[in-house]
Amino acid sequence: MPLPTDEQLLALAKDLLLELDQKFGVHPGFRPAHARGVLLKGVFAPSAGAPKLSKAPHFGRASTPVTVRFSNGTGLPMISDTDPKANPRGMATRFHLEERVHTDIIGQSANGFPVRTGSEFLEFLRVAGVPEELEPFLAAHPSAKRFMEIPKPSPTSFATEAFFGVSAMEFENVQGVKRFGRFRLVPEAGVLHLTDEELAVKGENYLFDELHGRMMAVPVGFRIQVQLAEVGDIADDATAQWPETRELMEVGRMVLTEFHEEDAAMQKHIIFDPIPRVVGIEPSADPLLELRAAIYLLSGQRRRSA
Ligand code: HEM
Repeated sequence: MPLPTDEQLLALAKDLLLELDQKFGVHPGFRPAHARGVLLKGVFAPSAGAPKLSKAPHFGRASTPVTVRFSNGTGLPMISDTDPKANPRGMATRFHLEERVHTDIIGQSANGFPVRTGSEFLEFLRVAGVPEELEPFLAAHPSAKRFMEIPKPSPTSFATEAFFGVSAMEFENVQGVKRFGRFRLVPEAGVLHLTDEELAVKGENYLFDELHGRMMAVPVGFRIQVQLAEVGDIADDATAQWPETRELMEVGRMVLTEFHEEDAAMQKHIIFDPIPRVVGIEPSADPLLELRAAIYLLSGQRRRSA
């Protein structure tokens, strides 16, 4: 995928990368956000109803191999799993459609985002550590205040956390019927979080260690759902989440069975893409999508050459 040619977008992407570098330090070979992670492999199988929503190839064939990266929040490659700043956690999924052809879902464990645009996010990052600047920012951006107040508890396991696509996509089936929706990944083991007391006695690698123990015993399952918009729902704003009463359509199930055999090299190489770039799943007009696609690509190219 080439970088976009929009100079303004590229300049903002570079400014955001610089800001993340300043916030977390530069760690060559690691991501400037969600730096600490692990890669797994598995298989996706669509539900019988999935083709009714989208003509995407993996919705219409029996099974598709996947690569998943679970991660802690922040650009700190050594952040303790117990650090509250490691929330929201991340889950990035790549569906391997053909040799060198793929589509991704990037999810995080908080259902929402503080601001609608990249320039507001840059401002948010800049004021985040300065209480006297943060306060007026939050007063002017109720969505950021709301996001700060969403509880972000630590999970008992990466396999017991739910992950949200946050930005809407536009799905289209073979009949040409289009619907906006948002991906979510729901753990089959149930959503389970730790209390503060339980977290206090955990070790700094508890999540990554737990995953190793769990994978020895049982495969890790996730249901992939799409929360469907109704007419009039805002579809181009990551801060405007839809009511929980909206229909959730299950589009398939993913089973993760093994760790990636070349974890460190592949984590460095793989660059997940917030834009699906597959027939039947188009990005919405959410301004974060195109910007993030440029940032992740710039960042990934830097990581690969480190
Ligand atoms: C303007 C807003 C955002 C900025 C500037 C930003 C920045 C970044 C950067 C620089 C990376 C590292 C990419 C790489 O090197 O491959 C990253 C990764 C990630 N971001 Fe964002 N992000 C934004 C919004 C979001 C949103 C809305 C989500 C919600 C799903 C999200 C979830 C993630 C996850 C899960 C990863 C890790 C992906 C992986 O495992 O490779 N980000 N982000």
